[in-house]
Amino acid sequence: MSALFEPASYVRRRALIESYFDRTAADAWARLTSDAPVSGIRATVRAGRTRMRAQLLSWLPSDLSGRRILDAGCGTGALAVEAARRGAQVVAIDLSPTLVGLAGQRLPEDVDPAAIEFRVGDMLDPALGRFDHVVAMDSLIHYNVADVTRVLGQLAERSATSVVFTYAPRTALLATMHAMGKLFPRGDRAPAIEPVAPARITRELDSAPALVDWRCARTQRVDCGFYISQALELVRDR
Ligand SMILES: C[S@@+](CC[C@H](N)C(=O)[O-])C[C@H]1O[C@@H](n2cnc3c(N)ncnc32)[C@H](O)[C@@H]1O
Repeated sequence: MSALFEPASYVRRRALIESYFDRTAADAWARLTSDAPVSGIRATVRAGRTRMRAQLLSWLPSDLSGRRILDAGCGTGALAVEAARRGAQVVAIDLSPTLVGLAGQRLPEDVDPAAIEFRVGDMLDPALGRFDHVVAMDSLIHYNVADVTRVLGQLAERSATSVVFTYAPRTALLATMHAMGKLFPRGDRAPAIEPVAPARITRELDSAPALVDWRCARTQRVDCGFYISQALELVRDR
């Protein structure tokens, strides 16, 4: 397996993201991902994220028994839980110890704790091993397209079948900025989202040497009030 490649832009942005999700916005994120009542704007984000999670999971086999899944940037673990309910063996990793701790506390009783291995760290850690599918929901939206392409190349290298992920579609730039601006109080702003046009990301992925054995397959936008995100499925061709 090739060594972890970490460009300076990726390392800088990762540090900002870690600090934001682990400290600045940890409480707001914990609330958004819970059943607690939230304001109208946040309610649309919550509803959109529920739809997106279902969308990504619908691109995985319905029976995941015996499959190894990486939830890359798992946050508070909702997707990992659903994958485990379908029989998967999940590695759920996030930069934020706070969110990973919360994910462990929130593990529902019907899910075998042995089905999900929660880890704190970088999704690109080669020590995580190999997977049948990798899922990265809204965890790459703060990286620039060059870094996203490199990240996906490294995730693909350790996936046997597919990598499904989301990005912020550039056509929704204004709405997304508006949403993120309102979502958290001034001073609690997220690291910038890096919107990318669908044609651009497809072109980058199609021409990436690390993805020569892969192709872009299904894509689906979820547009729900203040949540706008685009899902894309990469599948191994050879
Ligand atoms: C918008 S949240 C989404 C969390 C979760 N996927 C969900 O949909 O609920 C993005 C998460 O990605 C994590 N993240 C970003 N870059 C990461 C990296 N390189 N390795 C691991 N986690 C990362 C952040 O810490 C954050 O918790």
